[in-house]
Amino acid sequence: MEIIIKQDYDKMSKEAADFIVNYINNKPETLLCIAGGETPAGILKYLVEASNNKKVDFSKCKFVSLDEWVGLGRETRGSCKETLYNQFFDLIPITEEQICFFDGLASDLEKECKRVDKFISDNGNIDLIVLGIGMNGHIGFNEPNVPLDTYCHVVGLDPVTKDVSVKYFDKALDVKQGISLGMKTINEADTILLIANDLRKADIVKKTVEGEKMPEVPSSLLKDFPKLYFFLDEAAASKLTK
Ligand code: F6R
Repeated sequence: MEIIIKQDYDKMSKEAADFIVNYINNKPETLLCIAGGETPAGILKYLVEASNNKKVDFSKCKFVSLDEWVGLGRETRGSCKETLYNQFFDLIPITEEQICFFDGLASDLEKECKRVDKFISDNGNIDLIVLGIGMNGHIGFNEPNVPLDTYCHVVGLDPVTKDVSVKYFDKALDVKQGISLGMKTINEADTILLIANDLRKADIVKKTVEGEKMPEVPSSLLKDFPKLYFFLDEAAASKLTK
């Protein structure tokens, strides 16, 4: 694991966005996956800027979603789809055919999982995946004690995830399940970018980096991944001792 610590959120976001831009410039057909939530917002802003300034060309890239709240679609502010479309896809020149996003409103969720699994395998696995970390160490909706052998799957949300969810939505929503890429999908990616900022993430960052690998902390399971880059701001890194 390579740890990159930048002074603040903006600098961290810029550094991570530059990494992604370089990756795509080296491999224009990149299959890219970026988490929803708050942490990637700065990266998305810089990726849009790079696209506007012709520093990167997404025209040959494909995009797959990481996860979605079951029962929510783009209409709900704070859903993963709304976040990624509003902050990224709608702001860069790409076509709908390049994007495969979980439909949290799908009536047949198993079929939805198979559809996304197939998109990934048809495109030869994910090249670059950008993951935030939940307060409980979840990555995507791979919650504590997640099995390691999963591809796309539906999960019951951990109580911590349900509590934290209020920050995304205009009003409290009774979210119970998520649909997510699995640990196996993530482990088959070429490169992983983990990102975390703010003091409130300092404990889980420490557990991820310095703690034992354990299924109770899904992010810790990535420790030995060959190409893992962990981008942090100083606040999130502040409890690291090694
Ligand atoms: C969201 C996702 C989640 C978040 C994590 C951190 O698509 O996959 O795992 O990355 O909960 O969320 P933020 O960035 O809001 O702190």
